[in-house]
Amino acid sequence: MYLIGENLRGGYGGADILKGCTVGVDKGEIAVIVGPNGAGKSTAMKAMLGMLDLNEGKVLLDGEEITEMTPQARVAHGVAFVPQTSNVFTSMTVEENLEMGAFLRDDDITETRDMVFELFPILKEKRRQPAGELSGGQRQQVAVGRALMTRPAVLMLDEPTAGVSPIVMDELFDRILEVRAAGVAILMVEQNARQALNIADRGYVLVTGENRFTDTGEALLANPEVRRSFLGG
Ligand SMILES: Nc1ncnc2c1ncn2[C@@H]1O[C@H](COP(=O)(O)OP(=O)(O)OP(=O)(O)O)[C@@H](O)[C@H]1O
Ligand SMILES: [Mg+2]
Repeated sequence: MYLIGENLRGGYGGADILKGCTVGVDKGEIAVIVGPNGAGKSTAMKAMLGMLDLNEGKVLLDGEEITEMTPQARVAHGVAFVPQTSNVFTSMTVEENLEMGAFLRDDDITETRDMVFELFPILKEKRRQPAGELSGGQRQQVAVGRALMTRPAVLMLDEPTAGVSPIVMDELFDRILEVRAAGVAILMVEQNARQALNIADRGYVLVTGENRFTDTGEALLANPEVRRSFLGG
């Protein structure tokens, strides 16, 4: 896999939150992490990004161990992240948010920005508006667009559809499928487990920091035990 966190064990100073879980994703693939609240999904994302002290386990990017690499260096190596909350600068315009996403680049960002506007036309329309004035679904588009401004090889999304309507969720998933088609590796945490597994090449069910089920999205959706315990039947 292009990005993989193996046997991740660690937490926030107290008891371990991650208890040896493994998650990863390949290029041109969508991997989805689902599981109950507090399972450690966001914590696993943080570990992949270098924002968590690991007691055990390692993170590999394109076959190279990056366990000790800083988050900034990971971003420079093509890993982008959209956090679960506070993922846009509300007082900045849409366009400024996108420019912030490209702050590590010193080349011409026009082409990438136009690509983001093509993917999310509403952002072009609202480019001069403060992101704080946008709807929840539009803000999520800003957040994803900003992450894409780094031209990432890996896009990590923590609950990109949180708080949006089913229609907006479907649209966002369609856009994410387009990003996958461009060859990007997409690793996302999702509360809308059924819909997310539906587009997932690979799925992980995490419970109390451990892998409970790992399979293709299709196989997880078809698994009676997964359905009963995690997908509401
Ligand atoms: N910064 C932090 N400091 C201390 N404990 C934390 C911190 N962040 C999370 N935790 C704890 O770690 C555990 C896992 O949290 P995490 O946010 O990873 O869960 P999650 O699976 O993403 O849940 P959710 O579905 O609610 O987003 C929880 O018990 C939580 O209280
Ligand atoms: Mg979370």
